Amino acid sequence: MTVEDIPASASPGGPAGRTAAVIPAAGRGIRLGPGAPKALRALNGTPMLIHAVRAMAASRYVALVVVVAPSDGAGEVKAMLDAYEHALPERTEFLVVPGGDTRQESVKLGLDVLPDDVRVVLVHDAARPLVPVDTVDSVIEAVRGGAPAVVPALPLADTVKQVEPRTDGTPEPVVATPERALLRAVQTPQGFDRAVLTHAHETVPAAGEGATDCAGMVERLGKPVVVVPGHEEAFKVTRPLDLVLAEAVLARRRANDGF
Ligand code: CTP
Ligand code: MG
Repeated sequence: MTVEDIPASASPGGPAGRTAAVIPAAGRGIRLGPGAPKALRALNGTPMLIHAVRAMAASRYVALVVVVAPSDGAGEVKAMLDAYEHALPERTEFLVVPGGDTRQESVKLGLDVLPDDVRVVLVHDAARPLVPVDTVDSVIEAVRGGAPAVVPALPLADTVKQVEPRTDGTPEPVVATPERALLRAVQTPQGFDRAVLTHAHETVPAAGEGATDCAGMVERLGKPVVVVPGHEEAFKVTRPLDLVLAEAVLARRRANDGF
C-alpha cells in the first residue's frame, strides 16, 4: 500500500482527531492487602502504573496519556513518569491529575483535562498492566470505525450464579444461573467517542460506589456498546495471587523485549 492509499482518517491525529488514554490509578488496592496504593506497587521491579502507561503509549494511535493519581500522590506519580521517561515513547504526551473517592469520579477528573482536539478516549485500569498492544489497537480501530463505545471481553471459564448475598456466614441461596455462553467478562481499555463518554459522565449519577465500568454508563444513555475480543493477559491485578501471575507473564516476556 502506498501513502496515497491510506485514508487521511487513518493517520493518528488526522481529521478523526487525537486519541487519548485516561488511566484511573487512584485506588488503594484494599483487596491486594496492606501497602502502597496498588498502582504504585512494583511488578518485577517496575511500578504497575508504568507498565500500564507503557501499554497505552505502545499504540501508535495514542497521542496523550492522562494518569489519574492517588489524591495525595500526584507529585510522586509525576516524578515516577519522569524517572521512566527513557522507557516511554517520545511521541506521547503525559498529564497527571489527582483522583477521587470512586473510580467513576477519578475517570471524570481525567476527562476534564482532555484537550479539545481529542475525539477518541480510552479508559484503562492501571490495575491491568499487561494488556497487549494489539488489543488496545483493536479497541481504538472499532471506535474510529464508528462504534460509540467498545469493550474488550472474554467468554467466562466459570459458571456464574446469581445469589441472595449473605454477610453473616450462612449459605447464600441461589436465585438463578445465567446461560454461560451469553456472558462475557469485560476488560479494559474501553474505547469511546469522546462526546458520548463525556455526556455519560455528565448525566449518569454516581450511585453508591459509582460505576466500575464506563461502558455501563453509556448503556444507560441507550447508546450501543459493542464487544471486541479481549486477551487473557489483560486480567486485572486484584488479589495477591494476581501478582504472582503478572510476574510470571513478565518473566515470559522479558526474554523477548528486556523490559
Ligand atoms: N480507581 C481510581 N479511583 C478510585 C478507585 C479506583 O482511579 N477511587 C482505579 C484503580 O486505581 C484501578 C481501577 O480503578 O486502576 C480499577 O479498580 P480496582 O481494581 O477496584 O482497584 P482498587 O479500587 O484500587 O482496588 P480495591 O477495590 O481492592 O481497593
Ligand atoms: Mg476498587
